[in-house]
Amino acid sequence: MTYIVNDSCIRCKLMDCVEVCPVDCFYEGENMLVIHPDECIDCGVCEPECPVEAIKPYTSPNLEKWVELNAKYSALWPNISVKREPPADAKEWEGRPNKEALFSPNPGQGD
Ligand code: SF4
Ligand code: F3S
Repeated sequence: MTYIVNDSCIRCKLMDCVEVCPVDCFYEGENMLVIHPDECIDCGVCEPECPVEAIKPYTSPNLEKWVELNAKYSALWPNISVKREPPADAKEWEGRPNKEALFSPNPGQGD
């Protein structure tokens, strides 16, 4: 059991989640974060912290793609444990449908 980040995070990348994770298992891409499935201890603390509800238990419906994506990119991207300023246009991307097409495989800056 683990938690995963889904496409609601894309271009919002608010980073409230990284502040509360007790094991620092968030990894940063250019426009979203992911959770490392082998490091997450399933505490659930991050889920209510995300203002755009991008964090879900991996057993939630229709998240198979994001389970795979979190596993893949958490092994490639740098760790992030300190919140920075979110993107200036984060608010504009809240709740937009079909953000999957905007996913960037490029790494973020990390801590
Ligand atoms: Fe971190 Fe807990 Fe969220 Fe897993 S469920 S990512 S351990 S805060
Ligand atoms: Fe993304 Fe939500 Fe964290 S928008 S960076 S999962 S607080």
